[in-house]
Amino acid sequence: MSGKLIVGNWKMNGSLAANQELVRAVTTGLGTATCKVAVCAPAVYLLQLQQLAAGSQLMWGAQDISAHEQGAYTGELSAAMLREFGVRFAIVGHSERRQYHGETDAVVATKAQRALAAGITPIVCVGESLAERETGHTEEVVKRQLAAVIHTNGHCISEIVVAYEPVWAIGTGKTASPEQAQQVHALLRAQLKAATEHPERIALLYGGSMNAANAASLLAQNDIDGGLIGGASLKSTDFLSIVAAASH
Ligand code: PGA
Repeated sequence: MSGKLIVGNWKMNGSLAANQELVRAVTTGLGTATCKVAVCAPAVYLLQLQQLAAGSQLMWGAQDISAHEQGAYTGELSAAMLREFGVRFAIVGHSERRQYHGETDAVVATKAQRALAAGITPIVCVGESLAERETGHTEEVVKRQLAAVIHTNGHCISEIVVAYEPVWAIGTGKTASPEQAQQVHALLRAQLKAATEHPERIALLYGGSMNAANAASLLAQNDIDGGLIGGASLKSTDFLSIVAAASH
């Protein structure tokens, strides 16, 4: 893909007042950034983002999307609803949703399908736990997670974004080394190449304690096309430093 993609994942953080300050600082600070930049906000703040970020370089997204189209699914938000709020991206299969909300590979694949059908780019998260890494199962786990999405989405797969987020690196301050991340990204790239004629369209993001200090070395790797940033996306200076590292 051309140009890196940096996506902030605010998780369950923010308030109207805090978001206003953060989005103003980020949109102002983007200046001459040459990479693409988005933030994925709690759904109740999507209208606010639509108002604050419209016309700027900043795109916005949701952190989840329903696997259903519409109807009796209390608490769920459909792809069509999110689309009305200018949403460009939806994170699907984040490890926190797989872990705390029981999302299976099949559910994640259907969520990606719903997003694609509505013109929203799913950011499909894959990643192994510490136990899986330590027992040598990293490759098997990430390939299985991605295979489910490929199987369900066929040729549309070239329209997705993939984020490799080792679970042991999320919010822990333990980043995968650039070499560890590159190794898994290369595997995922090969898997995508076998599945689509346009693997070059697919951005492969790294996520897991990416910050202002380590972003440049991770983003310098061949198969790392950007980052999915949790904690460091909540402070405009940190987030903008990562954007700057991705703009070289
Ligand atoms: P982190 O989170 O940057 O705080 O580790 C990344 C993510 O979970 O998307």
